[in-house]
Amino acid sequence: MSENTIPSVNDLTLEEKASLTSGGDAWHLQGVEDKGIPGYMITDGPHGLRKSLAVETGATDLNDSVPATCFPPAAGLASSWNPELIHQVGEAMAEECIQEKVAVILGPGVNIKRNPLGGRCFEYWSEDPYLAGHTAVGIVSGVQSKGVGTSLKHFAVNNQETDRLRISANVSQRALREIYFPAFEHIVKTAQPWTIMCAYNQINGVHASQNHWLLTEVLRDEWGFEGIVMSDWGAAHDRVASLNAGLNLEMPPSFTDDTIVYAAREGRIAPEQLDRMAQGMVDLANKSRAAMSIDGYRFDVDAHHEVARQAAIESMVLLKNDDAILPLNPAASIAVIGEFARTPRYQGGGSSHITPTKMTSFLDTLAERGVSASFAPGFALDLSEQDPALTSEAVETAKGADAVLMFLGLPEAAESEGFDRETLDIPAKQVALLEAVAAENPNVVVVLSNGSVVTVHPWAGNAKGILEAWLLGQAGGGALADVIFGEVSPSGKLAQSVPMDINDDPSMLNWPGEEGHVDYGEGVFVGYRYYDTYGKAVDYPFGFGLSYASFELTDAVVSKTGANTASVSVKVTNTSDVDAAETVQVYVAPGKAEVARPKHELKGFKKVFLKAGESTTATIDLDERAFAYWSERFNDWHVESGEYTVEVGTSSRDIAATGVVTLDGDGKALPLNEWSTFGEWRTDPVGAPIVEAMQAKGEAGELVKLPDNDMMAMFLNSMPINSMTTLLGAPGKEITAFLLDEYGKVTK
Ligand code: BGC
Repeated sequence: MSENTIPSVNDLTLEEKASLTSGGDAWHLQGVEDKGIPGYMITDGPHGLRKSLAVETGATDLNDSVPATCFPPAAGLASSWNPELIHQVGEAMAEECIQEKVAVILGPGVNIKRNPLGGRCFEYWSEDPYLAGHTAVGIVSGVQSKGVGTSLKHFAVNNQETDRLRISANVSQRALREIYFPAFEHIVKTAQPWTIMCAYNQINGVHASQNHWLLTEVLRDEWGFEGIVMSDWGAAHDRVASLNAGLNLEMPPSFTDDTIVYAAREGRIAPEQLDRMAQGMVDLANKSRAAMSIDGYRFDVDAHHEVARQAAIESMVLLKNDDAILPLNPAASIAVIGEFARTPRYQGGGSSHITPTKMTSFLDTLAERGVSASFAPGFALDLSEQDPALTSEAVETAKGADAVLMFLGLPEAAESEGFDRETLDIPAKQVALLEAVAAENPNVVVVLSNGSVVTVHPWAGNAKGILEAWLLGQAGGGALADVIFGEVSPSGKLAQSVPMDINDDPSMLNWPGEEGHVDYGEGVFVGYRYYDTYGKAVDYPFGFGLSYASFELTDAVVSKTGANTASVSVKVTNTSDVDAAETVQVYVAPGKAEVARPKHELKGFKKVFLKAGESTTATIDLDERAFAYWSERFNDWHVESGEYTVEVGTSSRDIAATGVVTLDGDGKALPLNEWSTFGEWRTDPVGAPIVEAMQAKGEAGELVKLPDNDMMAMFLNSMPINSMTTLLGAPGKEITAFLLDEYGKVTK
């Protein structure tokens, strides 16, 4: 058979079809070589290629992989609010996959940061589903534009590491649809990832890997997913149940393909279901073939390092800059304190751990650029007690300097896949060190290295500047110098709120669950949706980030573009003499609604780069979904008619302008019946004229007349019409009968 002849599933035996539904080893698909289906390699992800050196044995060695560019993990990339830049990161990752003959890179992971203690927050994108979907999509489109596949993971509701293989995340349908699904949904609908990786956990009592509703009804039937679903590593527990639910591929293999063969023979798997699942694997091989046939390709290591550096620059978020302490003049006398300046923390631990192609620390960069600065490590990176000698050395180093750059953050052991954090605080010894240094020299800028938010509240008063640098990947040293010395202005914006205290977080009441389940009691009120709705103070709100420039948002115009759509345009002016970028954010604030809705939600954004003094007009369209909520009553999205405020701003709490649109609504209505309240009858388009006819009959003395005082009207409005006798006595029955009879006539 020629190399290019790839069969349809109809050309395969039952055994061959079954074999396609599990891997060949931990990092390979299972091929049917003599029928032209290769067993391509698939591997992690997500912020660079992690091709294990133990590939021949198929073993899992997390820290031993071929060198690849380590881009900033998602916590940073999401803060860039720049999908085009993220697309470039994706393209670069694909080129590295082509060199290493990897057909699918396992990422991005777009689970919501439900609680900032979540162990994988560093590799997830946001607390907001719109932002997560509209940034991470760049990875999928970028990688796949080069003929390499992605694996959107972990579908779905993998928001914690505690008990992750077994726990049941118990979530309302509304929260699933509004918070936990939309990032997946957007990426599936707009970029068609070649593969999706299902989560380990259960959702409402059913493992994701065996969840027919999730993997078939929602993902394929509703969203139109065309690729294959693979299990997270070890997430498939019952191959027959999984295959029937819509799982194409078990990874790594449990060497049980015979169970699929027997089940098919015994009718426990329908032939068409096995064909569908196996054909997906054949299609995946087909899609991969072109890129995997390129031999001898070498990616440009320096060019990719540059992409990583640009991504790192845009990942940083300037939180505080009192007295314009940043940028620093490189000719000033600068004290650098903190081990992270010499030994950067640039990625998280676990399956995403990459061996970088090169690595430049901040100190290395200073040396390269000829910037002289004094340095003291200040603390050891391990969890040991503080060594007083390190404190004294740091205080001495800070003495008399024009500015002190203090590199603080979370040591590697504090956050990783596999466990959740127990505190949002940075180690106490670092806080004590900061206090000691600031007492000697108040001109302190803290540079933070952490994968998910840390509390700044206890120590922010000791710093004039705070630069949240997340984990910056391999090019972080140079990127930091670019920002700190003002060669480029910071432009990152928070993709998650910075709470004052972890106990302010609404999910803490149900974190991390107990006895095998975790109840998502906060519903849709995740992150700023809670803080902003309930007026809770935070240290830094969602969407926040300072710049060396200043911007003005003016001339905002909100206009209705259809029955339930709108558009907003705003003029953005860089009012400073510094070139920089600003991110315009659009939030929709619903008016009075039938259900409890967050005060406002992000529904659009645009990052604009403006030279000093320049302006531009940003236009953002809002589709029907921007105004909808998931109605459990309709089991569907629902846009109510009425007024919606459209807010334009630069964070969830810096709203520059608002406009109101009055939408028609989608007209969805449930059929009325005896359990519908009188109020529902009165406001329903079919019910209202019947109520009016009934009232006319009351006036005419043909039916009992309804009492017309406010108190009674209030009672009536909330009363199902089968209870009319409670208020009206026996004649109430006639009213109920009249309403139901007339309704029957109109709707039959
Ligand atoms: C992780 C996945 C990863 C897989 C393969 C699992 O433990 O949850 O994100 O892709 O391992 O390394």
